Amino acid sequence: MKTIAILNHKGGTGKTTSTLNIGAGLARLKKKILLVDIDPQSNLTEGLGLRDVKTSIYNSIKDGTPLPILRISEYLDIVPSSLDLLGAEIELVSRFGRETILKKLLKEVSKDYDYVIIDCAPALGMLTVNALVSADTVLIPLEAEYFAYRGIDRLVSIIGEVRSHYNEKLTIGGVFITKKNPSRVITDQITESIKKYFNEKLFNTSIRINVALVEAQLKGISVFEYEPMSNGAKDYSKLVDEILIKI
Ligand SMILES: Nc1ncnc2c1ncn2[C@@H]1O[C@H](COP(=O)(O)OP(=O)(O)O)[C@@H](O)[C@H]1O
Ligand SMILES: [Mg+2]
Repeated sequence: MKTIAILNHKGGTGKTTSTLNIGAGLARLKKKILLVDIDPQSNLTEGLGLRDVKTSIYNSIKDGTPLPILRISEYLDIVPSSLDLLGAEIELVSRFGRETILKKLLKEVSKDYDYVIIDCAPALGMLTVNALVSADTVLIPLEAEYFAYRGIDRLVSIIGEVRSHYNEKLTIGGVFITKKNPSRVITDQITESIKKYFNEKLFNTSIRINVALVEAQLKGISVFEYEPMSNGAKDYSKLVDEILIKI
């Protein structure tokens, strides 16, 4: 079992879209997948068609009750989030062992899965620290925009802190470009500079801008079910292959 945290401190870089479609892509290959939504905005939960869930990851973090796991399909499960999770950051401030809560909860279920994939909020608070303490590796989706990696030093330093205090096996598994517009000249320049910054950590596969990815999420399904021949499905399928080789 491998646990992957999908993380970027910025919003809108494709974390949720990537969690959903990497998870669904691995599930298609008959890997048993648990998606974990740890973002109070609950976009992943809603992006899989789940609304107004009664019990969410918040209840487990607050009370230590087993993680509520919902079945999406034969190989794909999810722990949903809810807006209550917004309160968790503050509630955790005074708790002992607050950094390892998620790790302990996941330990109870990890034997049932090949991969656990955690969709983080665009924040570097205690929920994200919990994701990093639980993870074996971090994947960072980056937009091909100027300043895409502004603040990335801070993210890398938090990963280093978690590694030295709680989780010495934690690695940065890789960085991949999302929402790429191949017809923009500037995109190549930005891609080059991202490559210089991250070296071999940059995945060969980029995810192009593709409306099927947006539409699939609105329908509550993965791009593979929504439009299997779309660029979005092709790109995420390639990315999944690369992930299987590299991490
Ligand atoms: N490759 C893509 N092409 C077009 N739209 C995308 C793509 N990836 C993500 N989006 C859209 O961009 C918005 C932000 O993506 P999302 O995955 O929610 O980012 P994050 O979780 O990092 O905030 C969403 O509306 C999503 O549907
Ligand atoms: Mg998100």
